[in-house]
Amino acid sequence: MKRILWIPGMIALLGVGCGHRAAQTAAPHATAAGSALVESSGGKQLGMPGTMLPQPLVVQVNDASGNAVTGALVEFSGPAGVSFDPAVALSDSSGQVSTNVTMGGGSGRFELTAASPDKSGKKFFLKVTELSGSYQQQVGYEVNEKYCARCHNSESSAQRVSNYDNLSVKPHSFADGNAMNKLSNSDLNAIITHGGPALNRSALMPPYGWTLSKAETQSVIAYIRLVSDPPYRPAGVTYGKQ
Ligand code: HEC
Repeated sequence: MKRILWIPGMIALLGVGCGHRAAQTAAPHATAAGSALVESSGGKQLGMPGTMLPQPLVVQVNDASGNAVTGALVEFSGPAGVSFDPAVALSDSSGQVSTNVTMGGGSGRFELTAASPDKSGKKFFLKVTELSGSYQQQVGYEVNEKYCARCHNSESSAQRVSNYDNLSVKPHSFADGNAMNKLSNSDLNAIITHGGPALNRSALMPPYGWTLSKAETQSVIAYIRLVSDPPYRPAGVTYGKQ
């Protein structure tokens, strides 16, 4: 009696085991090859360490004349700790591959790579940068989107129309490390709190001392430091010459 009861259970376990393994190891078989990879969407996102980015990363495989290629193999890779679901896939009928990216530990800029083999098997690549930030930097990102991006980001988004083109003095993008890294934390604090004139700059940069709490101002400074390219190196730290 006992033995009979065990059998359905064992069959069920075997069934689950096989299905799982098949899904994990079935390497997709490419039916075509392209010659270039382009980013469709999902680059330059800000996620928290160890969590999945809000949007999937979508790349497209094109042939030499820029037409989408269906059935080409795309492989994603990144620094240790970053994972992709799926990590390997075939381009769909619009030439695209979509993957969910989970960030590794630590904050900063993460360079991800998508690779695809051409007809001769030689790989071509696309590099995509994603950001991973602390909770404070996430808050700073929200502050930026709500108050700053309409002037500091020259591109409009679905949520916000850029005012950049209307400004007679052009602010810099927070990603412009050459402009932002020259300003110390106390410079940033002064211009954000008291407006442009605090640093002898244009009054088109409004004061935010009445709008933002001290913590919010610190968060947006932490966000500016995170996104700057080249990266910010705090004064007082000496780096060895190469
Ligand atoms: C109404 C448009 C506008 C908004 C909104 C705005 N800024 Fe500015 N900002 C400017 C302009 C214009 C300058 C350039 C001033 C100059 O160089 O004389 C500037 C300059 C700056 C600078 C100096 C570096 C640079 O870009 O030249 C910092 C830092 C800055 N803003 C931070 C912020 C932050 C943080 C916010 C949001 C809390 C913000 N700004 C919102 C217009 C704006």
